Amino acid sequence: MLRATVNGKPREFRDNSTILEALRSRGIEVPTLCHDERLKPQGACRLCVVSVKGWPHPATSCHTLLTDGMVIETETPELRAERQGVLSLLAHRYPTDAVSRFPDKPLHRFFLECGLVSGAAGKSDPLLVDDSHPYIHVDMSRCIDCYRCVRICAEVQGQFVWQVWNRGAETKIMPDSGTTLRESSCVSCGACVDTCPTGALEDKTILADGMPESWTKTTCVYCGTGCEMNVGVRNGAIVTIRPALDAPVSKGHLCVKGRYAYAYATAADRVTAPMIRDRGSWKQVTWNEALAFTADGFKRVLREQGPNRVRTASACSVPPVPPTKRTTSRKNSLARFSKRTTSIAARGSAMPPPPPP
Ligand code: SF4
Ligand code: SF4
Ligand code: FES
Repeated sequence: MLRATVNGKPREFRDNSTILEALRSRGIEVPTLCHDERLKPQGACRLCVVSVKGWPHPATSCHTLLTDGMVIETETPELRAERQGVLSLLAHRYPTDAVSRFPDKPLHRFFLECGLVSGAAGKSDPLLVDDSHPYIHVDMSRCIDCYRCVRICAEVQGQFVWQVWNRGAETKIMPDSGTTLRESSCVSCGACVDTCPTGALEDKTILADGMPESWTKTTCVYCGTGCEMNVGVRNGAIVTIRPALDAPVSKGHLCVKGRYAYAYATAADRVTAPMIRDRGSWKQVTWNEALAFTADGFKRVLREQGPNRVRTASACSVPPVPPTKRTTSRKNSLARFSKRTTSIAARGSAMPPPPPP
């Protein structure tokens, strides 16, 4: 444990924490822009500055390790002035309409809290807009060079699509293609959209339909990994899906299927009730009818051809689907259940209990 004094109060913190992690672990908030807990700290925006007794300049809390005995202040007139200065510089050329349209973006919230919206006099530059990607709209007029997209694409997705071109005032964030996002090596995981604090990278569905009115946390239906996600709904329809940051399995990340391939939920031809093929054409039935039909089928095969003719296959694990595609635990349970019940039917008695683990 480390001991430090924060805003006049002595406190204890975990070893090996940055100042920001330590403060947040005790519910003390410091504004951040370039920080994302999924990524290595970059120290690019200087919004998270705190003052440390004996240090000549404020320290970036996201990028500085806490040490024993530190005396830290998180809110002083100097710190507020430094943060206001950073935000004023960003506001100078920032498109005003973006702030009013999406007030909940982290940067926009800071502009509004600091009364800087009137200073945001910029306009979206059509030359900085790239609408080529099927899911992601790019408007680099809103980019503040926080490098979160660059880092998450490299560190979390391992794809290295977003890259920093040039230096200083000439810095540009561009895809690896050097042209459009569509021509890049993007695999459409959406991680750069999730992390962008301004909306420079945004889901096209959000631009078309608006921000969600409610969120529902759930688990992805596609494979057996079990990634957790928050489904954003507006007017009764899904407008976006974002990864759950606290998910132990997926750790705040999704693949293209979980993130963007949700049109099946409202597809007109989606199968929503059991169906039986009757003389070549599909007929909708009740669950009882479907289960009775399946049981009759098993019994007939067992009676006429014996138990060796019964096999159970679980979807996603059946060749020629590659082995990297995993089945779900529910499908495996169903497969196990059908194996045991057909075995019972073949023997005419219950299976012996499984051996103790
Ligand atoms: S596009 Fe967004 S995430 Fe990427 S550097 Fe610009 S502001 Fe940051
Ligand atoms: S969507 Fe994923 S792969 Fe594509 S640029 Fe963004 S982070 Fe990289
Ligand atoms: S959040 Fe710490 S420097 Fe940006």
